[in-house]
Amino acid sequence: MTITTATAPGKVILFGEHAVVYGRAAIAVPVTKVKATATVKDAPPRAGCTISAPDIDACVRLSDSPTDPLAVAVSLALAETGIESEPDWQLAVSSSIPIAGGMGSGAAVSAALARAVLAHSARPSRHTPDPDTVNRIVYATEKLHHANPSGIDNTVVVYEQPVWFVRGQPPRVFDIARPFHLVIADTGVASSTGEVVSDVRRAWQQNTDKYEAIFDGIAATAEAARRAIAAGNVDALGPLMQQNQRLLRQLNVSAHQLDHLIAIAEEAGASGAKLSGAGRGGNLIAVVETENLEEVTQALLAGGAAGVVVTEVGA
Ligand code: PMV
Repeated sequence: MTITTATAPGKVILFGEHAVVYGRAAIAVPVTKVKATATVKDAPPRAGCTISAPDIDACVRLSDSPTDPLAVAVSLALAETGIESEPDWQLAVSSSIPIAGGMGSGAAVSAALARAVLAHSARPSRHTPDPDTVNRIVYATEKLHHANPSGIDNTVVVYEQPVWFVRGQPPRVFDIARPFHLVIADTGVASSTGEVVSDVRRAWQQNTDKYEAIFDGIAATAEAARRAIAAGNVDALGPLMQQNQRLLRQLNVSAHQLDHLIAIAEEAGASGAKLSGAGRGGNLIAVVETENLEEVTQALLAGGAAGVVVTEVGA
């Protein structure tokens, strides 16, 4: 029996979260050490299409749960294939990306499912699913998680490239003149992107000038970071992360556990650190010189991080 397997990586936003919802530029990179994996195989006739996600103890039948996010990703992908009636397929999805942690877990799960459906329906050809189609599907599923997604998560997860992203514009790949290491640490605190984005929106509505100025400040750090990365000036990135984090605190999206672990990372030798994603919990990222990687990793784990991933950007 043919089993079709597809994957999609996690991601981190390096600079510019939240401001990117309001048209400012942001930088994000894929994190291939963590990924979502989806499989599809044929089921017995009349079994229908089921999707199981053992990590979260979920199993849905497509026809019974049309609004479930897993089912929506599969239905949208099926609509692209021209298959009209529900196929007898068994899908399964698993992920090593922390859930509700700002690392694009929802987008990666949707991307892996969409790719698996498109590839399984194209059998026996080994045709790679069209990334623009997958991106469209994943963006639609992102809207289930929060009303006004900028589109950065689906873009990075689907195209698997570092991107300079401005809402409504085609994403731009940018130069990384010198690779650098990031330590990504999970606070273990789950956070709802939708809630945090809505809180920022309410605050922006009440105090538009103040929030617009903060978004401009964040955009300036993203622009300076893009230039530093393109010039191989890795030393500039730590201070820019610190500056971005100060502005994120002013947006009221940091949290005690984030601030605590950021301080630990910097004391252990990181040149700068910040939250990544929506904030209030989830993950932080720290830019760290090679010789300090082990010390920063151990300090974060000793300080209460639920997990640490080290990744090299631009390698
Ligand atoms: O928490 P995440 O990884 O879904 O990141 C959200 C990024 C925001 O800028 C806060 C929202 C968005 O749609 O860009």
